Amino acid sequence: VVVIGIGGSYAGTKAVDDAIAHKYQGWIDQASAQIPIVYAGHNLSESELVELIDLMDAKQPLVNIISKSGTTTEPSVAFRVIRRYLEQRFGVEQSARRIVATTDKDKGVLRSLAEEQGYKTFPIPADIGGRFSVLSCVGLIPLALAGYDIKLLLEGADGVFESIRSADDLSQEPVVQYAAARIAAFESGKAVEVLAIPEPRLIGVLEWWKQLFGESEGKDGKGLVPTGLVFTTDLHSLGQMVQDGVRNLFETVITCKNATKTGGASVERSIKVPHLSGNCDQLNYLEGRSISEINMAAIKASQLAHFDGGVPGVELNIATVDLHTLGALFAFFEVSCAIGGVLLKVNPFDQPGVEEYKKNLFGLMGKPGYEELGGSIRSRL
Ligand code: PA5
Repeated sequence: VVVIGIGGSYAGTKAVDDAIAHKYQGWIDQASAQIPIVYAGHNLSESELVELIDLMDAKQPLVNIISKSGTTTEPSVAFRVIRRYLEQRFGVEQSARRIVATTDKDKGVLRSLAEEQGYKTFPIPADIGGRFSVLSCVGLIPLALAGYDIKLLLEGADGVFESIRSADDLSQEPVVQYAAARIAAFESGKAVEVLAIPEPRLIGVLEWWKQLFGESEGKDGKGLVPTGLVFTTDLHSLGQMVQDGVRNLFETVITCKNATKTGGASVERSIKVPHLSGNCDQLNYLEGRSISEINMAAIKASQLAHFDGGVPGVELNIATVDLHTLGALFAFFEVSCAIGGVLLKVNPFDQPGVEEYKKNLFGLMGKPGYEELGGSIRSRL
């Protein structure tokens, strides 16, 4: 499944697939039932597109083009290239059956193109912005195409929404407490929020979270800069900065006692440190402990060290990493982000800064209607 989209049009899908899919399945068993999701149109890398076409050549690709506006340069360009590739390989009629378009219900060039070409389409609700759209057709369709049980994601999200809806005292809800803690951190002079994730398989969630908070809050000179720490890799790089650098940080740590894979096509198993006679590597004190247990201890050790080093923060504890939990995490962060925007007095649902760059690019590349802007940018450059 080739997902063509950028920002909120692909980040949620990637977050789920990265967290659940077996990382090496395609290498172990090419005929595996796990359907890989790959991405295009999330950058302007020509070399990535060349390699993706090589991959498509070896496979039977199905393409989901996702763009709410239908005019974003990166996915539009990638889609034109990939569409040409499909049409040359399968013919116009057959390639139309391999293309699914997710876009605005009524308007935009992608909507007209899809209708003209007879693509299967799914609507993006008008009142849902890109970075809040993972639980809409934007995230759900590609995940369903790849075989994920998307009901589990929605059930996980519903649990969070329901708990907020039925709360007697909203101030006791974690979603409100997280929003309040972050804004308090900002108001007391913190500039950066570090989201520490326990597992590389959550890097996609981290990237999705960075977009959600960065695009929603970064307005009018406000907002915490969202960045991340991947445990334990980054303790050996950025960790020094967090422990001892500029004291303008707030840290949110996601902890997870059972991070072994339990969903999708993944395996569920544990690896424990074996006994070594002679103990020449001096690790027998860890004998019988699982890697996850050691990881958890490393997280706790760093959490305390960072706190002692002057980095306040909060902990979000999740039971496991599966579709249900991911749905809950999406709902949790989305609602918290919206509340945070209100507390900060910014509109969390627009992204005027991103639109600025999009317009400049139109001008620079000579899009009709943007000639004047293009001229003035070129003279400044
Ligand atoms: O959150 C947002 O609204 C943005 O990041 C958009 O998702 C991104 O710019 C892509 O826009 P579109 O779906 O219109 O191509």
